[in-house]
Amino acid sequence: MPDGSFATQDSSVPTDPHLAAEALEGLLAPTKTLPPKFFYDAAGCALFDDITRLPEYYVTRTERALLGSIAPELGELLPSGAALVEFGASDEAKASLLIAHLRTPAAYVPIDIAAGALAALRARMARSHVGLPVLPIAADFIRPLAPPAGIMGLRAIGFFPGSTIGNFDPAQAERFLRGAHHMLGPNAYFVVGVDLRKPVEILIPAYDDAQGVTAAFNLNLLTRLNREAAADFDLARFAHQARWNDEEGRIEMHLVSRGAQRVSVAGTPISFADGESIHTENSYKHSVPGFLTLAARAGWRGCRVWTDPARHFSIHLLQANSD
Ligand code: AVI
Repeated sequence: MPDGSFATQDSSVPTDPHLAAEALEGLLAPTKTLPPKFFYDAAGCALFDDITRLPEYYVTRTERALLGSIAPELGELLPSGAALVEFGASDEAKASLLIAHLRTPAAYVPIDIAAGALAALRARMARSHVGLPVLPIAADFIRPLAPPAGIMGLRAIGFFPGSTIGNFDPAQAERFLRGAHHMLGPNAYFVVGVDLRKPVEILIPAYDDAQGVTAAFNLNLLTRLNREAAADFDLARFAHQARWNDEEGRIEMHLVSRGAQRVSVAGTPISFADGESIHTENSYKHSVPGFLTLAARAGWRGCRVWTDPARHFSIHLLQANSD
């Protein structure tokens, strides 16, 4: 394009050159990938919300029930007068369970990339938790962050529910945990929800449900690229697939090409062989000792761990080593 912009399929949505460039980087690699952060446009957020209510997706309801049952105990173990810092806080549902049992919490700091969702959260919290300072940070928490001025000098309790840590590979998870250690300070605690290894018969349906909601969530990546990266994917020619990778201990989501085909993304042709896939997401399933080893490498020691009776999910209470 002469002026450096891209042609777009839907003229009402401007093409995003950064998104297109990132998508092309993954699609031109020998093993095709797309970054999972692209899942979460408005349609993707709504589909993820639907996933959390699916009968096959045990993750959300198991963690919520476990957190509800251990919250009184956590409230006793955690320090009074501390600030609760939640990473990836699209809503306050899980934090509220914890806040109800914390002794005199000093502030709630929700961190999320979605500034609009944070503003709505803050307005709701102003009504439901009168007097609790809510200090949102609109940022990508994967990058190093400074704590807000309002919690300087306070003890911090990090909170990272949902097993979102499972979407990081081990090196990324270690980097994230080290960054959180740095941000939260030497006396911090960290409450982390971590999904556990379990039979494939439970895992695969959780990521390939009967109603096809997870398939729609995965395929929405292509809809987004068609709209925002001047791509021409034919969604009927890609199939959603969930695979268990035993060696890596992770569920993988793929979009598999039905037949050989060529697709254009921002004017660049991409060839697919029949059955070739775009690897779109990893969801690591840890063991309790495996996660503790990872956390220890990032400066955290385990204080307590709770699991549900079926041992499908774990909630770890970690404490920062002072460095
Ligand atoms: C956000 N994250 C913890 C989900 C998971 O289970 O890995 C994302 C997801 N992908 C498909 N279903 C759910």
